[in-house]
Amino acid sequence: MANNNSISKVLSGILILFFLECSTGQLYPNYYYSSCPPVTDIVKTITESAIAYDTRMGASLLRLFFHDCFVKGCDGSVLLDDTTTFTGEKTAKPNNGTLRGFEVIDQIKQAVDEACPGVVSCADILAVAARDSVVTLGGPYWEVKLGRRDSRGASISKANKDLPTPTSSLTTITSKFADQGLSLKDMIALSGAHTIGKAKCVNFRSHVYKDSNKNRFFSGFRQSICPPVNGTGDDNLAPLDMITETRFDNSYFQNLVAFNGLLHSDQELFNGGPADLQVLLYSNWQEAFFSDFVEGMIKMGDIKPLTGSKGEIRRNCRKRN
Ligand code: HEM
Ligand SMILES: *[C@@H]1O[C@H](CO)[C@@H](O)[C@H](O)[C@H]1NC(C)=O
Ligand SMILES: *[C@@H]1O[C@H](CO)[C@@H](O)[C@H](O)[C@H]1NC(C)=O
Repeated sequence: MANNNSISKVLSGILILFFLECSTGQLYPNYYYSSCPPVTDIVKTITESAIAYDTRMGASLLRLFFHDCFVKGCDGSVLLDDTTTFTGEKTAKPNNGTLRGFEVIDQIKQAVDEACPGVVSCADILAVAARDSVVTLGGPYWEVKLGRRDSRGASISKANKDLPTPTSSLTTITSKFADQGLSLKDMIALSGAHTIGKAKCVNFRSHVYKDSNKNRFFSGFRQSICPPVNGTGDDNLAPLDMITETRFDNSYFQNLVAFNGLLHSDQELFNGGPADLQVLLYSNWQEAFFSDFVEGMIKMGDIKPLTGSKGEIRRNCRKRN
């Protein structure tokens, strides 16, 4: 039977844990424990139904989170719409016409705000939706650290400068990740996100026509849906992973080893350089990929969050308050 002494021991244990969590990082998984208990269930339910309706949506939400975090940190800046007096990041070159999923984030935000008005940031919703997308498509689960606040600004110039492009070399990609505090190993693991989703012809044309480090049969198939002349069929889509495009697994790395990478930047990871060994490892060992991917996602989610009194909790993810 519990006596006063054991109860106070348990209570002080809980308090110590609470302070440890708050002091070790600014973000922590239980951030909404008392202010919005249903938030994780709401995000999960809506993310799952969006993916049931359109399988590609899981990929689109994961990419949205990456493009948020790499530009001024994970602060929801990517979600802001352009207005006559405000320039967001949506028309930056790596984003324009290829980012998807904004309506799903709006829908989640609306449901979350009905349950707990004005408490949960758009940046956190995006972080949880990205995790739930990975899990729904068969990938690993991890606890998402929370407590990010939303930015009041955006930067189109940083979006153009800080995001890697499909024509980037391994050196350029590596240095863009290093600029965010992410290692070569993190970069390779995170690139495994290309095990799901699609890319437009405009982004893989030069690789399948001009590069020589490619499988001929694979590039022949991709050429057949992507006309050679710039400006023709630019929006035609092909899966980033030719083996299992809607399953989060390690087949992206198996593609690279067989020179079936869709983007120039993908095949850069297996082209006789310093990433080769890790790509080979992941192509043979899915568990190693999953555990490094999780580590990379947590690190990426920690990029420059706004906490405390910085930023705001947006009422509408597309507009500052
Ligand atoms: C390593 C450097 C990277 C480059 C150069 C790159 C570039 C691209 C490009 C060009 C597309 C196709 C966009 C389109 O044509 O619609 C794409 C799609 C995608 N990217 Fe990346 N990416 C990189 C890393 C990442 C990372 C780190 C993640 C997430 C952790 C990610 C997640 C995705 C996903 C899921 C898609 C498919 C999106 C969809 O189907 O809507 N990428 N990426
Ligand atoms: C964005 O894409 C649209 C259509 O895809 C195009 O008309 C527009 O010029 C592009 N904007 C920028 C800034 O590149
Ligand atoms: C087509 O576009 C690519 C990449 O945008 C460029 O490098 C190339 O010079 C263009 N080719 C022509 C014929 O304009």
